[in-house]
Amino acid sequence: MCGIVGYIGNREALPILLKGLKRLEYRGYDSAGVALNNGGIKIFKCQGKVADLENHIGTQNASGSIGMGHTRWATHGVPNDINAHPHSSQKGHFTLIHNGIIENYAELKSKLQHRGYEFKSDTDTEVLVNLIEYIYLKGNITPEIAIRLALSKVEGAYGLVILCDKEPETIFAARKGSPLVIGVGDNEYFLASDATPIVEYTKSVIYLNDNDVAVIKKNELKLKNIKNDILTPKIQKLDLELGQIDKNGFDHFMLKEIYEQPKSILDTYRGRINTNSNELTLGGLYDILPKIEHARRIIIIGCGTSWHAGMVGEYLIEELARIPVEVEYASEFRYRNPILYKDDIVIAISQSGETADTLAAIKMAKEAGATVLGICNVVGSSIPRETDGGVYTHAGPEIGVASTKAFTAQVTVLTMIAILLGRRRKTVDDNLYSSLINGLLALPEKIEEVLKSNDIIKEVSSHFYEATNCLYLGRGYLFPVALEGALKLKEISYIHAEGYPAAEMKHGPIALIDEKMPVIVIATKDSSYDKVVSNIQEVKARKGIVLAIVTKGDTVIKNMADYVIEIPETPEQLSALLSVIPLQLLSYHIAIMRGCNVDQPRNLAKSVTVE
Ligand code: M6R
Repeated sequence: MCGIVGYIGNREALPILLKGLKRLEYRGYDSAGVALNNGGIKIFKCQGKVADLENHIGTQNASGSIGMGHTRWATHGVPNDINAHPHSSQKGHFTLIHNGIIENYAELKSKLQHRGYEFKSDTDTEVLVNLIEYIYLKGNITPEIAIRLALSKVEGAYGLVILCDKEPETIFAARKGSPLVIGVGDNEYFLASDATPIVEYTKSVIYLNDNDVAVIKKNELKLKNIKNDILTPKIQKLDLELGQIDKNGFDHFMLKEIYEQPKSILDTYRGRINTNSNELTLGGLYDILPKIEHARRIIIIGCGTSWHAGMVGEYLIEELARIPVEVEYASEFRYRNPILYKDDIVIAISQSGETADTLAAIKMAKEAGATVLGICNVVGSSIPRETDGGVYTHAGPEIGVASTKAFTAQVTVLTMIAILLGRRRKTVDDNLYSSLINGLLALPEKIEEVLKSNDIIKEVSSHFYEATNCLYLGRGYLFPVALEGALKLKEISYIHAEGYPAAEMKHGPIALIDEKMPVIVIATKDSSYDKVVSNIQEVKARKGIVLAIVTKGDTVIKNMADYVIEIPETPEQLSALLSVIPLQLLSYHIAIMRGCNVDQPRNLAKSVTVE
């Protein structure tokens, strides 16, 4: 939520800031702004996207080699020019950009109002910048001390970059709960919410930890915590290439990422499955495997698409390893006072590794003594740093707000975990093991085959794009796929869609079915096939329009459904990985036909770092 960039060095800051903000727009895109320090702090900001900000700046003088920029996803206050960041303090000593939420802002605001502070915006950020100024002026102290003292009074989450008029050669940064990366250059430093704005300038980065405060001049970086302990910055090498964050000729990141799945799945199991011996190893779980193997139960937590992947994981682990699994929305889990045992294994799934609810749920599970593992995509993000072990998905940067390749990579990791546990617990025999490993190895090629149906899927989409509602049905491994298909459709095309276990249809949703209701049934040849065929008959008997995802060569459903999309055969346990691909493409084409912005759907942001 909200993207932050900063620069201090010898170059002109504005082009670096604008380019960086464009890369971070996936984090929020309802308003944008920059502040530049060039013998005085100048702010440019407006409602809209970074391109609107660029137009707004136009030919005005915006030079300076110290600056910061922000692209906003509104939490406090509607998106407008005034609520856009940066925010300045009343007397103009501090200017600040913020990602996160100051939870005790109301109490702090009222104290400041009693002391004569007036507020122009509705944001929690303006409260923070004024609190820093108030403490600074009252205590007659340095800006750095004022920042640390103010932050010690703040509850909530923040990633901050701050400028102070009294220290024009310095940029301050702080983090608690919202990510911040510093790029280390030659007499220059870059700041950003993630590494994508930094990668073309330097591969040396420092990931700030919670409660870190950085005081940066162009040739010096001092790192402390808010208690004033001096810290040694840990410089890491960035494993990211510029080519990975471009659209590479695709119209949208979402489409590019759908098409990347043969490679991203391969990257997920690369080096983990020995293609000669078929042996499976997951280095990040090595030490913990014996504990997981004997676990009384596993709890999987996540949000949105990651939660759907978790559901596939539940079915996989229970079937293959026979360990009881519960899947929970992280946001519910953290607040519902769940029963946790010290021998519980909690698996947190998150593409970004920054989702606030998932992070909070992890902290709670750790406090209860459980062992917590992570399945994350973004290397160096907060969740992998909080967990006892885990597996990176290695899907490469996912920029489209609608998650696609992250889902298949997460399910691939969960499949490997389930197989590995099943092998160790002797609940997966040699035949099943070989069939699953060979099935995984064959997936990239099979996904390529599904992608070749893109034109058919586009044509089918033209019959659905005017729908106002859609039902998605699936059973077994395909029920979470129905949920994921429905989520993809709602979030990028704004068509109301619901996913259901196919058999549940007759307990309510069937009442919705008429000749206008599209029903998308994932009906590949698996153990529930005959039952799903009956469900399709029930829909057709009520004049519903059926689009079925079927196994190649299926003739039974072809004669029943209005439209079919064929996918290759695969072991049932891997069926989610293949059947989700046509649903991703279907939502993409429908959204395009409806004129929606698929990469930046309304009201959404890629990484939900606030509650
Ligand atoms: O980064 P995470 O995987 O933790 O994100 C979780 C959800 O916010 C995310 O999956 C969201 O539901 C996507 N927009 C779905 O496409």
